[in-house]
Amino acid sequence: MRPYVVLLACVAALGGLLFGYDTGVISGAILFIGKDFALGTRAQEFTISVVLLGCIAGAAVAGRVADAAGRRATLLFAGVLFFTGAIVSALASDDAVLLAGRSVVGIGIGFSSVVAPLYISEVAPAAIRGALVSLYQFAITIGILAAYVVDYALAAGGAWRWMLGLGVVPAVVLVAGMLFMPESPRFLFKLGRAERGRIELARVHGDSNVELEEERSIVASLAARSTGIRAFAAPSLRLALFVGVGLAILQQVTGINTVIYYGPRIFEMAGFGSAQHSILAESIVGSVNCLMTLVAIVWVDRVGRKPLLYWGVGGMFVALAALAVAFATSHLSGSLGAIALGSMMLYVGCFAFSLGPIVWLLISELFPLPVRGIGMSISTLSNWVGNFVVSQFFLTMVESLGASKTFAIYAALCIVTIAFVRAFVPETKRELLENVTVAGRAVPR
Ligand code: BGC
Repeated sequence: MRPYVVLLACVAALGGLLFGYDTGVISGAILFIGKDFALGTRAQEFTISVVLLGCIAGAAVAGRVADAAGRRATLLFAGVLFFTGAIVSALASDDAVLLAGRSVVGIGIGFSSVVAPLYISEVAPAAIRGALVSLYQFAITIGILAAYVVDYALAAGGAWRWMLGLGVVPAVVLVAGMLFMPESPRFLFKLGRAERGRIELARVHGDSNVELEEERSIVASLAARSTGIRAFAAPSLRLALFVGVGLAILQQVTGINTVIYYGPRIFEMAGFGSAQHSILAESIVGSVNCLMTLVAIVWVDRVGRKPLLYWGVGGMFVALAALAVAFATSHLSGSLGAIALGSMMLYVGCFAFSLGPIVWLLISELFPLPVRGIGMSISTLSNWVGNFVVSQFFLTMVESLGASKTFAIYAALCIVTIAFVRAFVPETKRELLENVTVAGRAVPR
């Protein structure tokens, strides 16, 4: 890997780190915010979920902004949103100001979740694109883990303002870093700045044959006439959108954020004695999430996207089925805690090398350059809507159906995911972005 490309990917991946940190940090902070601002249950729930509403709004517009203003400027803007939102939240004098700050953070997450993988995917040479976009997911998991650690460390003093405020540190690094990063070569060609685009291609490849081939494909891909949302009326683009949206929703409805947001609650349901033990167990799960993403970084460009998806989602199914059986079988109740911890480690570990990174990777690969921003925006927006729905209704589902049936539903959705991948998802390993085809049909250029 050329160090220069890795550096570009690492700076952009800070958008992922902030995504993970800012979605994770609230779970610990809310305990103290609730007390300080005397919030009831409903107000607390809203303080938690307002960030997801911001994500939906941010993701909805980010693609258009990235197609108009460029990938670099959009990511820079996301950094400014993260910074502003963190400061406003940390200094909030009442719940209304806090809600405003958290909404701005949410919009920042929405923006970065579209444009960070998009930027990385467009600068990356085809042979290592999978690893570099997986770096973005790795950064998300580091952010989530950092949030747990910060919450844990600051809990004794109830320092929720610091918990929320510490997000400014990576935000400053992201903004400062992006000031020095180049525009994506593909976007430069789209703007008609071929000379500059060629220079950037040369800097990422250092091999003139590859550059030439890539330049030809990019220029050819820009011949598409229709560029706005109406382009998706074309059957093959519609299919690409179906695949992008489908993957984005399946990533959420197979239940990942019940574990990420409600892990300690699940451990308590499984009989863990103290809140402290539950939080410790959650930190173990967070570490597994982080470490197992490395498997994707190493293997996704070697074995390909689809094999990792089959293995990973298969493993998630086994773990969820085990949870469903364990919660339904009363004579297992003594060992429920151990089964829950084991299953959740297996579940998260399998997600971490499959649906986690590969969904972001694929949705950054499916759409042709003229409509890539919009295609990613719609897919990412669906991901956040799925996230919102699952996290809003998880506790209600557990209350009305019981834990066993709830996990059984997620397990069944893993089977749907495997069938969906088999039927519709293209293998994009080592393909030039411009050569990706969906369900055997070339996307029109
Ligand atoms: C998902 C998030 C999830 C995270 C967990 C991401 O790929 O989009 O919703 O919280 O992975 O690592």
